[in-house]
Amino acid sequence: MYSGYLTVGLISVLGLCSMTGVAIPTVHQASHRADKDALNCARSDQVKEAFQHAWDGYYKHAFPHDELHPVSNTFSDSRNGWGASAVDALSTALLMQLPDIVDTIVDYVPTVDFDHAVDDSQISLFETTIRFIGGLLSAYDLLKGPLSNLASSPAAVDKLLSQAQRLADNLAFAFNTPSGIPYNNLYFDPPRNDGSTTNGLATVGTLVLEWTRLSDLTGNKTYAQLTQRAESYLNNPKPATSEPFPGLVGSSINIATGQFEDASGGWVGGTDSYYEYLIKMYVYDTTRFASYKDRWIKAADSSIDNLASHPATHPDVTFMAMYQGTTKIFYSQHLACFNGGNFILGGLVLEEQKYVDFGLALTAGCHDTYTNTATGIGPEAFRWVEDSTPNTSNTNPPPPAASAAFFQQAGFWITSPNYVLRPEVIESYYYAYRATGDQKYRDWAWDAFVHINATTRVGSGFSGLLNVNIAGGGGYDDFQESFWFAEVLKYSYLIHATDNEWQVEHSGKNQWVFNTEAHPMKVVGPLV
Ligand SMILES: *[C@@H]1O[C@H](CO)[C@@H](O)[C@H](O)[C@H]1NC(C)=O
Ligand SMILES: *[C@@H]1O[C@H](CO)[C@@H](O)[C@H](O)[C@H]1NC(C)=O
Ligand SMILES: *[C@@H]1O[C@H](CO)[C@@H](O)[C@H](O)[C@H]1NC(C)=O
Repeated sequence: MYSGYLTVGLISVLGLCSMTGVAIPTVHQASHRADKDALNCARSDQVKEAFQHAWDGYYKHAFPHDELHPVSNTFSDSRNGWGASAVDALSTALLMQLPDIVDTIVDYVPTVDFDHAVDDSQISLFETTIRFIGGLLSAYDLLKGPLSNLASSPAAVDKLLSQAQRLADNLAFAFNTPSGIPYNNLYFDPPRNDGSTTNGLATVGTLVLEWTRLSDLTGNKTYAQLTQRAESYLNNPKPATSEPFPGLVGSSINIATGQFEDASGGWVGGTDSYYEYLIKMYVYDTTRFASYKDRWIKAADSSIDNLASHPATHPDVTFMAMYQGTTKIFYSQHLACFNGGNFILGGLVLEEQKYVDFGLALTAGCHDTYTNTATGIGPEAFRWVEDSTPNTSNTNPPPPAASAAFFQQAGFWITSPNYVLRPEVIESYYYAYRATGDQKYRDWAWDAFVHINATTRVGSGFSGLLNVNIAGGGGYDDFQESFWFAEVLKYSYLIHATDNEWQVEHSGKNQWVFNTEAHPMKVVGPLV
C-alpha cells in the first residue's frame, strides 16, 4: 500500500519542453493555470528522459534485434528478428520529436529483410500487423504530414510504406483458406501455416485498420478486401448461439467454415481488440465503416447491461465481467483495462455521455488495481466476488483464504501477480483526460509512471516484474517488451503534452486514430 501522490523533484531533463525555464511547482502547489502547464510540461520531459534511457540501453545492447534483456544486457528475437523495439519506438520518437532516434530508425527500416524470419521462426499475423505494419504506416503518415520537418530523407520515408507493403504481400497467403478467415501462425520458408483449425476473435478482428490503411495508401485494394472479408464473419456471427448477448460473441472461429466454435468471451486478452477496432474503424472512415459502429454500439450496450459488475466488498467500484454463454465470470486483466478508454472514445465520437460515464467508471476500477498493491502497479489478472449473485455458487466463488483480507480491503484479489510493462491502465487515463480535461487523470498517470519507473527500471532499461504486491516487484523477468516504447511511454507522454492534431479530441472529431499498439494512423474522414 502507498498513499498520496508522489511529488518527486521535477527537473526538465532534456530541455525540450516549451515551458523550460519556468520554476516547476509540485502537484500540490500547482493551482494556477500557468503553474499546471509548467507541471505537466515538466512531466512530459521526464517521460522523454525515460524513453531516451530505454532507447540508449536497447541501442547499445540489442539493436537491431527485437528486444533488450535489460538485466543481463543481452537480446532476443521473439518477433522474427525484424527489430520490433525499433519499429515500435518510431512513432513515439516522432511524437516526442527526438530527431536523432527518428533518423536512426528510419535509416534502419530499409535494411530489414521482411522476406525471411530469423531461424524460420513462427510469425504471428496479428502481432506482425499491429507492431510492424502499424508502426511503419503510422511513421509514414506522420512524416508525410505534420512531422515532415523530421524527415531528413524523403526516399527513406517512402521506404517505410514499401517495406510495410512488402511485409503484407508476404503475409497475404494466410487468408488463402476456404472461408477467408486467416491462419494466425505462419512460416515463410517455405510459406506454410501451423495446421490450426481455428483462429481467435482478436487475432482475426485486429487487422482491418492497418490493412485498410495500407490499401488506401498504396491503391491496391486487396489488403482491405482480405481483412474486411474475414471481419464479416465476426460481425455476422454464426451459429446464433455464439452471440449470447447482442453484439458479444465467442472467441474461437473455425478457419474452414467461418463459424464460431464457442460462446465465451469478454473484453479480455484473446477477444479484446475486436471490440476496440469496431469503433476505431468508424473513427477512421465514417462512411465505409458505419456498420462496424453499429456492432460496437450493440456490444457496448450489452456490456453495460450484462457485464458491469460491482465487488461485494466495494459496491461503488465497477469492473467488467467475462462470460461463458450467459454465465458471468468475475475475472479481469490488466489487458482488459483498455476498455475504459475505448468506451470513452466511443462516447465522444457518438456524443453519447452514457458511454463516457461507463468508461470513466471502468477506468476508476482499474486505478484501484494500481493503488492497492505494494508497488503501486496493477497485476496481470484479478478476480472479485460480485455483490448481486450468491457467493456460494460455483460461478461466484469466494477468494482463497490467503486473499480474503486483501479482497476485503481492495475490492479484488490478485490471480496473476506479474507486470510485463503493459500500457492499458495509463491508456485509459489518457482517454479520460482527453474527454474531461480533469487534471486528476494526469495525476493518476503520473503516479503510475513514477511507480513503474521506480520499480521496473533496472540495468540498461526497464524490465517486467514477477510480483507487483511485493515491495520492489519480487524480481525481474529480464525482458523489455517492444510495447514499452510504443505504448506505455507514448500514453504517459501524450497525457501531459499540449494539444496537437494527433491527440484524441474532446469534440469527437479526430484527425488520427491509435491502433491497438498505440500507433496513430491518419483518418480518412469525413470527420464525424
Ligand atoms: C495487390 O496485393 C496483393 C496481395 O499481396 C497481390 O497479390 C497483388 O498482386 C497486388 N496487386 C497489384 C496490382 O499489385
Ligand atoms: C458471502 O456472503 C455472506 C452472506 O451474504 C457474507 O457474510 C460474506 O462476507 C460473503 N463473502 C464474501 C467473500 O464476499
Ligand atoms: C526515474 O528513475 C530515474 C533513476 O532512478 C530517476 O533519475 C528519475 O528521476 C525517475 N523519473 C521519475 C519521473 O520518477
